[in-house]
Amino acid sequence: MKVSVGSDHGGLDLKAVLVAHLEQRGHEVVDLGTHTPSSCDYPEFARAVAERVRDGEADRGVLVCGTGIGMSIAANKVRGIRAAVVSDPFSARMASEHNDARVLCFGQRTLGPSVATLCLDAWLDATFEGGRHARRVDGITAIEVERD
Ligand code: RB5
Repeated sequence: MKVSVGSDHGGLDLKAVLVAHLEQRGHEVVDLGTHTPSSCDYPEFARAVAERVRDGEADRGVLVCGTGIGMSIAANKVRGIRAAVVSDPFSARMASEHNDARVLCFGQRTLGPSVATLCLDAWLDATFEGGRHARRVDGITAIEVERD
């Protein structure tokens, strides 16, 4: 699986942990930055990661900021992207099984690296269940279409 990854300065250290874990799992990781601790703006990285997932250049996206909130809000502005911010493995699994979220967001200031790694595994190991959940995801897509 090809995974695009991004963070701002507030998520830099957790991003490094998650990149190493993804590579250990055998995934191809594209780290779109940031690459330094200098203060920067999370929407740039959320957009870069989400657009790659949208365009099929990546199968999944992982984003980290201080709380994961800014990243998730920004990524969800990209048409067709469903990004979920999670802090427990059950929600991470549900993000795949029920919501077909292809982008997962984490907060480095709210979550330790061990739990974040458990969340990442739970999300990657799960599969979208389709059925009634597909109908609900289609309902989300309808909101996007109708707003224009
Ligand atoms: C940066 O200070 C912080 O606002 C950002 O990392 C993130 O938490 C925003 O949601």
